Amino acid sequence: MQKLLIDTDPGVDDALALLMALRHPAAEVVGITVSAGNVGLQHTVANALRLVERCAATVPVFAGCDRPLVLPAADAAYVHGRDGFGDAGLPPAQRRAEPEHAVQAILRLSREHAGELTLVTLGPLTNLALALRLDPALPSRVSRLLVMGGAVTAHGNITASAEFNIHFDPEAARVVFDAWPDFELVDWEATLGHTVADAEFADWLAAGGELARFYDVISRQTRAFIRTHHGDAFHSADALAMAVVLEPDITSDLRRHRIEVELAEGLYRGATRVDWMNRDPRGPNAAIVGRVELARFHALLRMAIA
Ligand code: BDR
Ligand code: CA
Repeated sequence: MQKLLIDTDPGVDDALALLMALRHPAAEVVGITVSAGNVGLQHTVANALRLVERCAATVPVFAGCDRPLVLPAADAAYVHGRDGFGDAGLPPAQRRAEPEHAVQAILRLSREHAGELTLVTLGPLTNLALALRLDPALPSRVSRLLVMGGAVTAHGNITASAEFNIHFDPEAARVVFDAWPDFELVDWEATLGHTVADAEFADWLAAGGELARFYDVISRQTRAFIRTHHGDAFHSADALAMAVVLEPDITSDLRRHRIEVELAEGLYRGATRVDWMNRDPRGPNAAIVGRVELARFHALLRMAIA
């Protein structure tokens, strides 16, 4: 059984990733820590709670940082809806977030499950950066870190060159990328390389039960946005990242390089620079996921909403 701690900012694609993790037979989610990102913290926490409740799970949800470390950043409400779940008018969950702050929860859970925890980040890296500043020994207790973020050849989504999660809080990403000795990265370009036809995804939703109907409702706006900008190719960055977490042998073409974050204000703020020629004497810090077995990724998507 793989123990997962998921840091997230739900968000429509975060929701698909969380469904996948909560329903996977070989995964145990020990906690969900939440930050601001796609929309404000009040909404991302409410959405995480709704999702856990829909899955009839008992996973604790911890509220974390409500803003980036240094500079304010624009959200992605134009993709996910003003409430982050497609403005579907869903009632709030009955359950509440835990009183403990997400950053403290990351540190505590890393001690309680030392050596056996997989940490997955699906949003800005603000919570994890603060956890690292409080306790630089954190990586030694975590068996695996997978980050969804970056655009390794500078094909961005929030700006021409930067990907949303990194661009939202570049200083936090810099802290994490500099301090974590070895992590896996699923970037925006991998996301665009692993899609499903929109009509096929709609068929899967139509064939599913209550959770499929829930996902259909919260994802309508986002799917319309994707159709406008990417045509028939439905994609889900956070779900792809979660597929790699849950079934590590689904990936091939792992490229090990050093990756860094640009902080300067201007055209390239939040861009990720990859040392493709491995000239940096510090050596690689990341395994960049190139290819994912598409049929298995599709099967995991179907399982999440079945
Ligand atoms: C990432 O940005 C967010 O909008 C999504 O939830 C995903 O984590 C993709 O760039
Ligand atoms: Ca996300």
